Amino acid sequence: MVKMKALAGAITLSAFVAACGGAAEEAEPTTDEVVTDETVTEEPVTEEATTEEATDEGAAEEETADAAPAAGGEFATKDGVAYASLTGDAAAGKTVFGKCRQCHVVEPGVNRVGPSLAGIVGREAGSVDGFNYSKANAESGITWSEEKLFQYLEDPRGVVVGTKMIFNGLPKAQDRADIIAYLKDPS
Ligand code: HEC
Repeated sequence: MVKMKALAGAITLSAFVAACGGAAEEAEPTTDEVVTDETVTEEPVTEEATTEEATDEGAAEEETADAAPAAGGEFATKDGVAYASLTGDAAAGKTVFGKCRQCHVVEPGVNRVGPSLAGIVGREAGSVDGFNYSKANAESGITWSEEKLFQYLEDPRGVVVGTKMIFNGLPKAQDRADIIAYLKDPS
């Protein structure tokens, strides 16, 4: 899409330049506008066209947040991304889990610095036998649903204030979705 656009732009631009004999710099904004319009009208109004329009206006992130209603409330994320808007990739999540492995494993009953994450999705917070949780985690009242994990892993210390998990979080929403897909079925 972007390539096509650039190409179309180049063609239109050279036509324009040929027509008026130069002034490429002045011509550029006009050309951009023409191409954007073409892109939108030529295609049926697809999501892609909408996204591109939003990007042109520099409002892509806000658009994403608006389009995903589940981002607010109890599971509000700092980046405004809703878990429901993403599809996790377990294989990619296994790689991201490398960031957790110094403290966690997915084998049941094996606690390291952090508790075993076997069966974490759907589990009550603070429920692994033999792991010495902080009060903050043990008494958080959290059930680790996928949405809650998605929120927590962005900002662990913001979601469980006083946790002893020393980890800044995963800023990339897709990384979080991928790791949750992996934790659901870590094989
Ligand atoms: C530096 C060590 C460390 C790293 C890195 C780390 N954790 Fe933790 N994690 C902990 C500790 C310690 C706890 C227990 C927190 C408490 O009791 O306050 C914990 C708790 C958790 C819990 C809550 C478990 C429960 O039973 O309530 C989840 C979920 C979790 N970590 C997921 C992850 C994920 C996923 C990653 C990687 C993206 C990660 N952690 C990275 C140390 C770590």
